[in-house]
Amino acid sequence: MAEKNSEENLMEKIVSLCKRRGFVFQGSEIYGGLAGTYDWGHFGVALKNNIKNSWWKKFVDGRRDMYGVDAAILMNSKVWEVSGHVAGFSDPLVECEKCKKRFRADQLEDVKKCPECKGKLGEVRQFNMMFATKIGAMEDSASTVYLRPETAQGMFVNFKNTVDAFHPKLPFGMAQIGKAFRNEITPRDFLFRQREFEQMEVEYFIRPADWEKYFDYWKGEMTEWMEEVGIDMGKVHELEVLPEDRAHYSKRTVDFEFDYPFGKKELFGLAYRTDFDLKNHKLEYIDEEMGEKITPHVIEPTFGVDRAILALLLSAYMEDEKDGEVRSYLKFKPNMAPVICAVSPLLKNKPELVEYANNKVYAPLKMEFGRVAWDDNGNIGKRYRRQDEIGTPFCIVIDFDTLMDHAVTVRDRDTGEQTRVKVDELQKYIKDKIN
Ligand code: GAP
Repeated sequence: MAEKNSEENLMEKIVSLCKRRGFVFQGSEIYGGLAGTYDWGHFGVALKNNIKNSWWKKFVDGRRDMYGVDAAILMNSKVWEVSGHVAGFSDPLVECEKCKKRFRADQLEDVKKCPECKGKLGEVRQFNMMFATKIGAMEDSASTVYLRPETAQGMFVNFKNTVDAFHPKLPFGMAQIGKAFRNEITPRDFLFRQREFEQMEVEYFIRPADWEKYFDYWKGEMTEWMEEVGIDMGKVHELEVLPEDRAHYSKRTVDFEFDYPFGKKELFGLAYRTDFDLKNHKLEYIDEEMGEKITPHVIEPTFGVDRAILALLLSAYMEDEKDGEVRSYLKFKPNMAPVICAVSPLLKNKPELVEYANNKVYAPLKMEFGRVAWDDNGNIGKRYRRQDEIGTPFCIVIDFDTLMDHAVTVRDRDTGEQTRVKVDELQKYIKDKIN
């Protein structure tokens, strides 16, 4: 079977697969949707959890110098004044005088002519991307709060709490996974540009003189993690972001870009935030080793969960052809797959097969791995196709021979190869494959 990662209509195929197989749905779909929002189905949640767990394992649990945080999404609006987001977190907006549609000026070839109706576009103005809401019963200016546009500030404002509670020595980091919200002018390209999304961020506090060393170090760590989860590194490119394109807080930014079907665009970012945030929040660190008070500098590796998933789906999507029939499948690494294995009795109307499959195979595997599916719907060929599309690496079939020899057929997603494995060796067999 010749496999290929077919680029033709790839986005349409991914979006359709995500809906059909219960990964991702349009937000509020039954009411016509809400632009820039998506809802996650059972297998999407599993994939998201695998991504987040792998990130947390590598960058928090796997280290001695990292402290986790889970800060509130609503924060005192002073945070966003001090961080520079109220004044500067904006995109250039233009509105068509004829059809009234709005566009991001920096994404247009011609900022004078509407790309939709060819009408005249108005003046470019800055549009702040933070969602504002009101807190409490009084609707005055003092009650304005913002939904956080980055998780980073939740860590900076807990810098002192973390230092006081854990007394970390420099360098050390804080890490957080959580939702972020941006009122994007033109949400687009499925999970790529949304109004509500998730971030995984590290703020790594260092002595100022060490910034170049740790910038390079984190570039390596980010690359390693992308490889570990199975992002196609042939499609990842580093971009040195020009000073005029950098965020207001950054003195150096490298973007990791990905070759999406809609172009080469940002996947993740790495920024040298200097002492911009801690200084503005008036936060300091007593360096006992040096006997002085300093404001540490910050290296920030930042990852979008949703873009990680989009890149992973695009990396894993494969098609092959056998006897004129095209098969599509998601070639996830076994530890990333939403379902590790599916258990199938050959026939669902044979109680002896169903009972064996349930008691001797499914129940113990479910207890051990959790992400195990029971699949007895349709013929075996259909079950394999369904599991291939979900990305399940192993399908286990219980047939009449099983009742005699206590062995099952394990079918490999990628090669289609079938192996007979003793039931009491099944867990070890799968564990070895995962590792
Ligand atoms: N704290 C730094 C920060 O927020 P950013 O480059 O603006 O930096 C970090 O965002 C990451 O969040 C991006 O690299 C991307 O993966 C993700 N991201 C940003 N905007 C997004 C959006 N509208 N939809 C989905 N993901 C987004």
